[in-house]
Amino acid sequence: MSEIGKDIAKAAALLMAGELVAIPTETVYGLAAHALEEDAILRIFVAKNRPQFNPLIAHTDSWAKARQLISSYPPLAEKLAQAFWPGPLTLLLPRAAHIPDLLTAGSPLVAVRIPAHPLTQALLARLDFPLAAPSANPSGYISPTSPAHVAAQLGDKVGYILDGGPTEIGIESTIIGFDDEGRAVLHRLGGLSLEEIEEVTGPLIRLLSIQDKPDSPGQLKSHYAPLTPLVLGESESGSGNWGALRFREALSTIPISQQIVLSESGELGEAAKNLFAAMRELDSRGYDYILAERFPDVGLGRAINDRLERAQHKYKED
Ligand code: TXA
Ligand code: MG
Repeated sequence: MSEIGKDIAKAAALLMAGELVAIPTETVYGLAAHALEEDAILRIFVAKNRPQFNPLIAHTDSWAKARQLISSYPPLAEKLAQAFWPGPLTLLLPRAAHIPDLLTAGSPLVAVRIPAHPLTQALLARLDFPLAAPSANPSGYISPTSPAHVAAQLGDKVGYILDGGPTEIGIESTIIGFDDEGRAVLHRLGGLSLEEIEEVTGPLIRLLSIQDKPDSPGQLKSHYAPLTPLVLGESESGSGNWGALRFREALSTIPISQQIVLSESGELGEAAKNLFAAMRELDSRGYDYILAERFPDVGLGRAINDRLERAQHKYKED
């Protein structure tokens, strides 16, 4: 099993040597590697069993460093960066010539993000290269929101797990790209709400249907999924032993001990923060099905619904 600790120097040394390190961010834990070295990036794909057509986000710690990863950007990109970085926002921008093809899966765009976690910021400040970091879970499974989640699934595949405690936001970054006129286009719902973004951009262009052949594989219709079949709704749709994932209150039809309530006070931020740990916990209990409540379609409720729908699709389609 890999070591878990707060030793930034050790993490930096491993990353400089091309090894994998799990890093905390405010959204979810990332599985990080040197983003400009193809051999290091390849280790990420192997460890996660991730298809190589699914590109990775480059993480850095300043706008000046982010600028070096891109060849140009529309004015709105800088406005969004100023408003929300460091934070749960990823921007898709034209890539600089030295960005490896493996990072972007051959796309002319590179995904860039400045994460807000202080430990990872301190780590990035020591490095003169960006970090490629997808969520630190096997491809298709639920993203990790604690060091223990990473250790449970990738513990034998990662050199070191940098312990930043449980993540604050709990759901992956919102991904925004731009059209030819420089208008903002939503590619993935996430930890920064549409309402907050639209205050800066005006109405976003949305590309959000769940698709088979997405332009952003985080949009794959089956993703973020537990192994136990998950069903969205308010009542069990057949016999069997059911667990339930609830927003504010438990259902009367399922034993209380088989239900997890995400936020008794009804706060979407608290629910998002607890979502993935609760999905993992329910998945570990051996129920036949997990019944998940649909959230209000507002603020982070939209991103929660998006993740639950993708978790459900796995069992609807294949
Ligand atoms: O919050 C997050 O974004 C976390 C933390 C670790 O930063 N990372 C994360 O990475 O969620 P990952 O790889 O699990 O999801 C990144 C998404 C994928 O759906 C990928 O397809 C999309 O970003 N993406 C990356 N580069 C892209 C590109 N050049 N064009 C389109 N989509 C891209
Ligand atoms: Mg992921």
